[in-house]
Parts: sequence; C-alpha cells; structure tokens
Amino acid sequence: MCESYDLVIRNGQVMMPCGLVEAEIGVRGGKVVSLGALGRAVARETFDAAGLTVLPGVIDTQVHFREPGLENKEDIAHGTKAAIKGGVTAIFEMPNTSPLTLDEATLNQKLNIASRTAWCDYAFFMGGNHENAHLLAELERLPGCAGVKIFMGSSTGTLLAKDDEVIMAVLANGTRRVSVHAEDEDRLVERQPIAIDADGPVAHPHWRDVESAVKATKRLVKLARLAGRRVHVLHISSADEMDILAEHKDLVTVEVTLNHLTLVAPDCYERLGAFAQMNPPVRDERHLEGLWAAIQNGVVDVFGSDHAPHTTEEKQRPYPASPSGIPGVQTSLPLLLDHMNKGRLSLERLVDLTSAGPQRIFGIAGKGRIAVGYDADFAIVDLAAKRTITNKWIASKCGWTPYDGMAVTGWPIATVVRGMVVMRDDVILGEPEGEAVRFIETFVEEKKSC
Ligand code: DOR
Repeated sequence: MCESYDLVIRNGQVMMPCGLVEAEIGVRGGKVVSLGALGRAVARETFDAAGLTVLPGVIDTQVHFREPGLENKEDIAHGTKAAIKGGVTAIFEMPNTSPLTLDEATLNQKLNIASRTAWCDYAFFMGGNHENAHLLAELERLPGCAGVKIFMGSSTGTLLAKDDEVIMAVLANGTRRVSVHAEDEDRLVERQPIAIDADGPVAHPHWRDVESAVKATKRLVKLARLAGRRVHVLHISSADEMDILAEHKDLVTVEVTLNHLTLVAPDCYERLGAFAQMNPPVRDERHLEGLWAAIQNGVVDVFGSDHAPHTTEEKQRPYPASPSGIPGVQTSLPLLLDHMNKGRLSLERLVDLTSAGPQRIFGIAGKGRIAVGYDADFAIVDLAAKRTITNKWIASKCGWTPYDGMAVTGWPIATVVRGMVVMRDDVILGEPEGEAVRFIETFVEEKKSC
C-alpha cells in the first residue's frame, strides 16, 4: 500500500534542524507528515524542487500594515501578498495603527479582516501605554496576539510609553516577552531642533543619535531586571547597544533589520534621501560592522523587516515632515540570500534568524522548522539565481523599495503556507487563506474561546 498526500515535494535539498539533507517531504492536512524517501506515494500535487533548497518559511515578527481599507495605505491583503512573494509565511503586525491596537475590540477587528484577506499566517501585537497597562496581563493572552509592544520613543503614530513608571507598569502586568522600540523620547525631543534646522534626512542619525538608542536600551535592561520580565529589543541600530545587550542574554532577545545591515550612512541619505529614513536611523559603517559581528557571535536572535510602507508622496515631503519607515517584508529573504552568497552568514544561521529564532523567542506553536508534525510552511529558494530587485516586483501598495536596481544572488522561487503553494515564480496562486498563528503560552485561552 502506498501513502497518499496532499502535497509531495521531491528532489530538493531540505534544511532540517540537523542541517541540509536530500529528502522528500510529504504533506497532509497542512502539516509535514513524512520526511525522507517516500517511495510510491500518491499525491494530489507534486512539486519538483530539483536544483532548489527548501527552507522553513520566513517568520517576519515586525511589520506595519496599518490602516485597513484606506486608499493608498498598505493593508493586510497587499502586505501579505508582498510577504509571500518574499518567502514569508507568517507575519506579526505592530500596534501603532489607526486606531491604535490597545484593546480586544481592535485586535478582533484586525483578526477578522486578516481571516478574509491574509495570504500568509498572522498575529498582532497589543500596544502598551499608560491607558491600558493594568489590563495587559489579560490582553496579551488573547488568541492571535503576539504579545505586547511598547515605544519608548515616538515614531510613526502616537503610541508611547516613555517614562519609567509607565514602562514598569507594563512590565509588571503579564508574563510574555515584551517587545520594545528603544529610543529615549526626552533626548529625541531635546534634540529635535537638529532635524528642524537640517538640510535633509542626512541629519536623521544626528537627531536620533546613538546615545538616544543607548540611553533607552540601558534603561530598558535595568527595568526588565527589576521587574524580572523578558524583553525583546527591536531593530538594534548601533554597535554600542550590542555590547550592552551581550551582557543580558538571559533576559533580552535582539532583533536587527536588513536595512541596518545593508544600507550605510551617509551614502544612503545622499542617494535615497527620505527613502532611507527610518527609526532608529541607518548609521555609519562602524555600526553596520558591529551589527554583523553580533550576528556572527550570536547576540542577535532574529531578523525583522520593520516593513513600513509609506507612500512615495509622503516620502517626498520635506524632511523632517517625511515619515520614517522603509518597506521590507518582500526584500528581506533575497537580501539575506545575497549576504549569504557574499559570505556574511551561513545558510544555517540565516534559518536560525528567520524561522527557528522567531519560534523560540515568541513561543510559536508548530512552526519554525521543517519536521514531522510541524506546519508545512516553506520558502523554496534558488541559492544561485541571479536577479535584480525592482520597484515593479514590489506587491506592497507603496510600490517602491530602496533596493530598486540592486542585483542579488539567491531568490525565493515558491512559498508554501500550511501545504498550499501560494507563490511560484513570482506569481501569486490560490486564495488568501491565512490563519492566526498559535502560541504555546495562550493555549488555555484558545481553548476557552472555542
Ligand atoms: O521607521 C520606522 N517606521 N520605525 C518604526 O519603529 C515605526 C515605523 C512605522 O510605523 O512607520
């Protein structure tokens, strides 16, 4: 008797937890059920991955998809299309939306929209501030919630938790890992004249300087220790912070973005103007090298894109009215494969930072590795394909990338979400059938709500 499957992937090199192996993958009911030689299996669909490498799907734990349904603004449909074109199989969206995600009703509204329009799996962060700090222990446990996120410094939108008392109130209410944008608001406000008097975005890293980031990161680590609460520091931009964070790896996990690892100041501001403007800012060569060193030595736990797809018109406003943020959910994997081909990191470390890392630090249930019993989420890549990133390829509503015209080696050829091939050769296939990501720490609540 031969086994039957919904999908079989043959002839590929498969990145398993033990490393790259030649294996066939049998998928049934959205999960991997067999790995190895499948023999005379019957399959509804067969994917020939000859010459390709099957990686666990990328989990992007920092995107901003924002205002659902507003014309010209990114929405979950476009954002997740961009995700699957880039080999991303799950996204976590940030709470600085309109309205801010601060309560159960707003979370449910987003979950509802996503259940109809998302092309990959999803979860949403709950924002934390002075208004809802006392409710966070309950809010962070709602199904579909990725945890709590706070902004110690203002970025896009009005979400802010700048003072020690508010941050402590957030840290004291709940148990899951808290994600943090660490820039010191008081220092940013004090230094704002630098931006106002500036001759363009080249001043951005001077206004939001290294000390603004270091000061906030130091405060955060101290408060997290006092509260005994795990924290995750987002988009670390400076070598100096990596030295501090290296001393707190028992409590603190660390994210970097591809922008901070690929663009360099002042060149990026001279070339791209506000299209290179993000918070915290892209800094100079010393910091770029410091971030790569922290990837090498293990201090970094995860890559996030911080996908923030402001429109071309918005970006063309004179600095500092130009909004901060760069789209990235679609370009992260191609850039990473290119960095790998240039010798910056191994394929094993790439997968550690895009799939296993997110699973480990956020306690994602059943994702993040290719193994029997896990969701059949794959990024099938050609490690040697030579392509050029272009604005035309971008599926985000904003339609631009700072990497337009960049030649890369390595490309996502297909994306599989729970056994469904949703992208092949840059073409989107099927229907939006994304589901909420499940978390180990909220199983009880999931049970209660069904
Ligand atoms: O540059 C940024 N833009 N950094 C953030 O942290 C927020 C983001 C946005 O929401 O636009």
